Amino acid sequence: AIIYVPRDSAALAVGADRVARQIEAQARARNADVRIVRNGSRGLFWLETLVEVATPQGRVAYGPVTGADVAGLFDAGFLSGGAHALNLGLTEEIAYLKKQERLTFARMGVTDPVSVADYEAHEGFAGLRRALTLAPAEIAQQVLDSGLRGRGGAAFPAGIKWKTVLAAEAPQKYIVCNADEGDSGTFSDRMTMEGDPLMLVEGMAIAGIATGATEGYIYVRSEYPHAIATLGEAIRNAEQAGFLGDDILGSGHAFRLTVRKAAGAYVCGEETALLESLEGRRGIVRAKPPLPALQGLFGQPTVINNVITLASVPLILARGADFYKHHGMGRSRGTLPFQLAGNIRHGGLVEKAFGLSLRELLYDFGGGSASGRPIKAVQVGGPLGAYVPESQWDLPLDYEAYAAVGAVVGHGGIVVHDDTADMSQLARYAMEFCAIESCGKCTPCRIGSTRGVEVIDKITSNQNRPQQVILLRDLCDTMLHGSLCAMGGMTPYPVLSAINHYPEDFGIEAPDRA
Ligand code: NAI
Ligand code: SF4
Repeated sequence: AIIYVPRDSAALAVGADRVARQIEAQARARNADVRIVRNGSRGLFWLETLVEVATPQGRVAYGPVTGADVAGLFDAGFLSGGAHALNLGLTEEIAYLKKQERLTFARMGVTDPVSVADYEAHEGFAGLRRALTLAPAEIAQQVLDSGLRGRGGAAFPAGIKWKTVLAAEAPQKYIVCNADEGDSGTFSDRMTMEGDPLMLVEGMAIAGIATGATEGYIYVRSEYPHAIATLGEAIRNAEQAGFLGDDILGSGHAFRLTVRKAAGAYVCGEETALLESLEGRRGIVRAKPPLPALQGLFGQPTVINNVITLASVPLILARGADFYKHHGMGRSRGTLPFQLAGNIRHGGLVEKAFGLSLRELLYDFGGGSASGRPIKAVQVGGPLGAYVPESQWDLPLDYEAYAAVGAVVGHGGIVVHDDTADMSQLARYAMEFCAIESCGKCTPCRIGSTRGVEVIDKITSNQNRPQQVILLRDLCDTMLHGSLCAMGGMTPYPVLSAINHYPEDFGIEAPDRA
């Protein structure tokens, strides 16, 4: 029998390695013929370790399995999908998975992450093969036509960025993947690198061919050791199979890929600080312009895209721009892998086309809060995203619809808080986070964040409250408009949304927009 035991960090954290060892030991003791495949995670984190058994009807899931459950599973005949309290039925039929639109994450948890053969058997490298039949400008046009926008959070059209780099004349160009996934509550980049890294490799090779860049770097968050290891393995296998290197599949195109461990600072996820760090310097933000697309890594034209942006490209090339564009709404085309985290019963990854509502994600997928208490506030788009109150949970998740109410979709991270949350303390935390992570280059962020903590403390301890509220709004205004990058420039989002939507937590009656 073939048994799947995830190698994703989320599964490892709850004992997946022990489960795998126990399965081996039990198989040996019972003389059973078992092959264990260490797959990626399906992204149903409350069910990890989710073990799957291949049966003639399809893969049968068991979860959450611990090492102590394994002997009992064998007794129940799980090698042939036998009944057991942990039997979840056919994996593909689990509602949480079935209701999704997994385009980018179609292979997630299905394949062996580092096997080129398995990848190719599941549509892998079809996009790269197609790209090799197109002129660079045609590839960039496909990406533009697909409507794909930067999935790191800023949502800039990827095709325009690629075209800018293609048009730039330079002796050397680069593709840099921003895998410094620093936002709390986000994990789609990590899952990609651990669970389907060849998709990122393929996307970067396509980007290289489309723009004339022959060197690529993946700058991976230092707290992601498993991602770094898995990427390394995947890259070696792709090189051996001819999909990377000096002459990709005999096409004459060259693309080489290097993984770099990041410096461990949140701000190094900001693209120019990332470039500084890659070049070996301290991660301090550079002023833009010049745009990295024109003067990026080592001063050369550089595509910097987030993991999910690049990972979305192979499918776009394989199936065509129209296929991808067909999903989504308005100017938000395609799908986003939303990440449900915080106080939520069913945390995990939900890939859906843009346009569904937060309420659907929270209840139809998430099953409500983990504590069972009412959900009070939801931070969408990472620690720099706004707190979204219940009155806005029916808005479609669309970049423009969210922007219109002062919120952001960002990277699709969703962190849930129940009614015990004190929003003044969460606002204070946002300022404190900014003070700790500020690179120090500009005053609104460096000084403003520390002053912000002090002012919020005065508000909550009722020291001249009305005046301090005015001061806090003033300070947020300065940070919003005067900061050099999103660190200082977006910290006001959580702060202002907290005070506007939950004034009672600050001891004020109604939003005071004076
Ligand atoms: P930005 O709007 O300055 O730039 C977006 C991208 O478009 C950049 O790569 C920029 O170089 C490029 N660009 C802009 N104009 C261009 C042009 N005319 N031609 C070619 N390229 C052009 O936004 P930024 O500062 O890069 O990102 C901010 C976002 O990052 C926020 O919205 C936030 O959601 C997100 N973020 C994500 C985190 C994560 O862990 N994924 C962490 C922190 C923030
Ligand atoms: Fe540095 Fe903050 Fe200014 Fe960004 S906003 S450049 S992190 S000081």
